[in-house]
Amino acid sequence: MKAVYIREFGGPENLEIREVDAPGDPKGNEVLVRVGASALNRADLLQRKGFYPAPEGYPERIPGLEFAGTVIACGPSAGRFREGDRVFGITAGGAQAEFVLTREDHLAPVPPNLGLVDAAAVPEAFITAHDAVWTQGGLSEGETLLIHAVGSGVGLAALQIAKARGNRVIGTSRTEEKLEKCREFGLDLAIDTGIDPGFSKKIENGAEVILDLVGGAYLEENLKSLAQKGRLIIVGLVGGRKAEFDLGTALTKRLTIKGTVLRSRSDEEKAGATAAFARDILPLLESGSIVPNVERVFAAEDVREAHEHLESNESFGKVVLEFSEQ
Ligand SMILES: NC(=O)c1ccc[n+]([C@@H]2O[C@H](COP(=O)([O-])OP(=O)(O)OC[C@H]3O[C@@H](n4cnc5c(N)ncnc54)[C@H](OP(=O)(O)O)[C@@H]3O)[C@@H](O)[C@H]2O)c1
Repeated sequence: MKAVYIREFGGPENLEIREVDAPGDPKGNEVLVRVGASALNRADLLQRKGFYPAPEGYPERIPGLEFAGTVIACGPSAGRFREGDRVFGITAGGAQAEFVLTREDHLAPVPPNLGLVDAAAVPEAFITAHDAVWTQGGLSEGETLLIHAVGSGVGLAALQIAKARGNRVIGTSRTEEKLEKCREFGLDLAIDTGIDPGFSKKIENGAEVILDLVGGAYLEENLKSLAQKGRLIIVGLVGGRKAEFDLGTALTKRLTIKGTVLRSRSDEEKAGATAAFARDILPLLESGSIVPNVERVFAAEDVREAHEHLESNESFGKVVLEFSEQ
C-alpha cells in the first residue's frame, strides 16, 4: 500500500509517499479500513522531527493519528460494522496510509451528511476537546470556558460544542482574523494575545474551565483567570513546557490542574473516549449543530506542503490529506 513515510527525522523535505506492507487480515475484534482521508496534527510534525516516537506496536515512520474511510474486512469477533460502512476514529499512528487496522471499539460511524474529507477532520479535534473539557474538566451548565488558540483544530471543536450546549466562551489567539472568524461561531469574548499576552485582566468573574492548548507561557495568567474551584486542563504545549507559578493562587482558589494526552492511553481508555464522543457529539454533527472545520485539503502526495502549512501557524481549523476517492 502507499503511505506517508518519514525517510529521515527532520524537516518536511524528508517526507515521501512510499510503498509499504499493508496490514494483515483483521483478527478478533479488529477492522480493516480503506482510508479516504487523514488529518494532520501537531504530533505528526513532532514525530517527523524525531521528538515524538510512536508507541510500541505502531509504525515509527508512518504518521497519522486519525482517519475516515470505508470498512473492507472485519475480524471474526467484530460485530459492530459491516463491509462498506463508513467509519472514523483515532489511532496511535500509521493513519496516513491507504489502509489502517484498528479495533472496532476505536471506531464510530460517519454521519450520513458528512463526506470522508470532512469526517477526517473530526476525530482527534472533537474527541480531545470533548474528553478534556467535559469528561475531565466537568464543564457544566452556566459555566464559562476559556479556550486558548481558539482558532486551532481542537480549539474550534471545543468552541462549537460549548456553544451548542449554551456555555459562555472566551477565546484567545495571536491572530485577529482568527478571532473574527471565531465570533461567527458564537465566541462571546475574543482576546488578542498577540497584542497583549496579559489576558487575565480582561476576564471578569473568572472562567470555571480553561482548555489550554498553549502551555508554559500562559500558566501564570491561567491561574489568575480561573474562578474559585476552577479547572485548568493542559492539552498542548506549543507555548513551552516549563513555567513558574504562585502555588498560593492554586491554594486559595482551590484549583485543579490536570494534564492529558490521548495517544498513549490504553486501548480501553481510547474505547471509552470514543464511546463518549459517539454518544454526545455524533448527534450534534448529524443535526448540523456543529460542523467539521476543514481549513485546507492536500493530496497525500503533497504532504510536505501540508506540513509546512500547519507549521506556519496560519491554519484555521484542520489540514486534511486525501488518500482515495471512495
Ligand atoms: N493532549 C492531546 O491528546 C492532544 C490532542 C490533540 C492536540 N493536542 C495539542 O493541542 C494543541 C492544539 O492542537 P491543534 O491540532 O488544534 O493545533 P493547530 O490547529 O495546529 O493550531 C495551533 C495554533 O496554536 C497557536 N500557537 C502556536 N504557537 C503558539 C505559541 N507559542 N503561543 C500561543 N499560541 C500559539 C497558533 O494560532 P494563533 O494564530 O492563535 O497563534 C496555531 O495555529 C497542540 O499543542 C497539540 O499538540 C494535544
